[in-house]
Amino acid sequence: MRSRTQPLLELTMEKAQTPLTLKISADQPGARISPALWGIFFEDINFGADGGLYAELVKNRSFDFPEPLMGWSRISPSHARGELSIEHDSPFAPANPNYLRIASRATAPFGVANEGFRGMGVRQGEAYHFSAQVRSVSGSPALRVALYSAHGHLLDSVQLPDITSAWTKHAAALRPASTDATARLYILVEGTGVVDIDMVSLFPEHTWRNRAGGLRADMVQLLADLKPGFLRFPGGCIVEGSELAYRYQWKHTVGPLEDRKLVINRWNYEFLHRPAPDYYESFGLGFFEFFQLCEDIGAQPLPIINCGMACQFNSCELVPLDQLGPYVQDALDLIEFANGPADSTWGRVRARMGHPEPFTMNMIGVGNEQWGPQYVERYQVFAAAIKARYPELQLVAATGSDATIFPNGKAEIEYLWSQWRTLQPEIVDEHFYRNPEWFAENANRYDSFDRTGPRVFVGEYAAQSVGVASPDNRNNWKTALSEAAFMTGLERNADVVVMSCYAPLFGHTQAWQWTPNLIWCDNLRAYGTPNYYVQKAFSTNRGDVVLPVHWSGGPTAAEPACFASAARDELAGEIILKVVNTGAEPVTAALEIDGANRLKSTGLALTLSGELTAENSLEEPRKVAPVSATVSGVRPAFTYTFKPHSLTVLRLGEEA
Ligand code: AHR
Repeated sequence: MRSRTQPLLELTMEKAQTPLTLKISADQPGARISPALWGIFFEDINFGADGGLYAELVKNRSFDFPEPLMGWSRISPSHARGELSIEHDSPFAPANPNYLRIASRATAPFGVANEGFRGMGVRQGEAYHFSAQVRSVSGSPALRVALYSAHGHLLDSVQLPDITSAWTKHAAALRPASTDATARLYILVEGTGVVDIDMVSLFPEHTWRNRAGGLRADMVQLLADLKPGFLRFPGGCIVEGSELAYRYQWKHTVGPLEDRKLVINRWNYEFLHRPAPDYYESFGLGFFEFFQLCEDIGAQPLPIINCGMACQFNSCELVPLDQLGPYVQDALDLIEFANGPADSTWGRVRARMGHPEPFTMNMIGVGNEQWGPQYVERYQVFAAAIKARYPELQLVAATGSDATIFPNGKAEIEYLWSQWRTLQPEIVDEHFYRNPEWFAENANRYDSFDRTGPRVFVGEYAAQSVGVASPDNRNNWKTALSEAAFMTGLERNADVVVMSCYAPLFGHTQAWQWTPNLIWCDNLRAYGTPNYYVQKAFSTNRGDVVLPVHWSGGPTAAEPACFASAARDELAGEIILKVVNTGAEPVTAALEIDGANRLKSTGLALTLSGELTAENSLEEPRKVAPVSATVSGVRPAFTYTFKPHSLTVLRLGEEA
């Protein structure tokens, strides 16, 4: 008899004495499972927001990139004569002071084209809503707006009438004649004259919940399908900024779009191997949209705030302790923005944006991947101020980056944990970017964890097939399977692990900086990786209370290592068993379900399996995806064969 709470490598060296048995103690329910155990982590990396989830198709819509015409090109047919200039006198929006002046001398239409985010994805016959702030400076110019395919075919065009000398929002709908993933938007002046233009926008009509200026419906649907317990936002290193000037400032991300001041995205220049010089944050997806998204998909919001530290992989810039006031105030104001009444200062801003009722925010993260005594000092300032005003709010503290990739890794983490055991934030965030073997070997990480300290949030993790920050990392089944093994350990230890999420979330196939990612997209399509389907299998089969599992007998040296966790779904009246077989051979196990109420004779099996190298893709989005089947012959003791390289979720009903 042996227990599966030992490292994988030790397991495989033992010889079998008796048949492999997995006992589930249905009559000994353990810890309650946090509804937030499985969540998601959004960061604007890999064009996850602009060019991704945020459905705006125009890049650099307000001409405020440092190169104001980045993303725009001059359209000047042979007979056209004209000039383009960037102006900033009496702008439409002072927060984004630049605008484009187009002066045309009439011989042919003259103007600009926007390239979108590696093109614009448009679908045949669907409506695309164009809008722009426009004013006429001289002459009697007319404006024509058109969509062209990358190959130069006109997809649709419309003329904007009645341009006056005052900034006015003009709008028109375009319906492309064919579907194109790399279309371009043209803005052409017809006739002689000078026109100013700003806040140029093109949005699909069909967005998530068909909100004007909203989010990409297919991408949100993939998130909603995960039924995530929480959504961590906005990062990630984005929170910190490579320098403090570029940190995430939530107040710049709310209110009218034109008042949201753009900033360079830190992933623009982070990696020499994947530079993205056109990557900026427009904040069209800002903190209001974040809270709204959480509400839409039933996820608890977990905002992360800058704690007066820039990224410690970059400048390490620090705000002196006696100058933290405005940073702390930002945190307090964010809480008021989320939870305050509609007549409070920041609650009023939320109400004006269309949500008078508070959003329910119960927790906040102080800092992202910070470490060292400087972090602990700053954390204490924030914690004191937040708890004084909002004692019920749960605080999330960090333990730096993964031990293997930050200076003095292990010692730093031990130092932070010792501090947190004293300072008692409710939740402590750990990050793991390791190889697949590490994840399987660490399925027992929390079995012997100190249970007297704060609860654990595994706030970023992903198996790296090659190595951290390598452009060669793949989202293959091997990585997903190892994560599944690890996740059984999170679930078994639900008394100490209360939250977890994979990182990063999105990658644009033409514009990514980091891999692996949970979901990949192009301008028209999005798909879940094998890792996504593992997350989904766990999150949609969470259960309410842990049931103890115990392996005995096997394995022989030839047998693969298996991992398991079990839970009871109280509402459905079902026992949920998750088994991960990381080996290349099928494993037949005797399942003994002790103390269950009368079991129904048929149950449901959800299985994910595949070649270890198998990947999903835009063309084959479900190469690795769950397959459901009915299981018959369910009894308190029955045998089940787990496929090679598989995750199986068995749902076994109990009679009421
Ligand atoms: O997930 C990508 C990055 O990895 C995050 O921004 C950061 O927190 C971690 O180092």
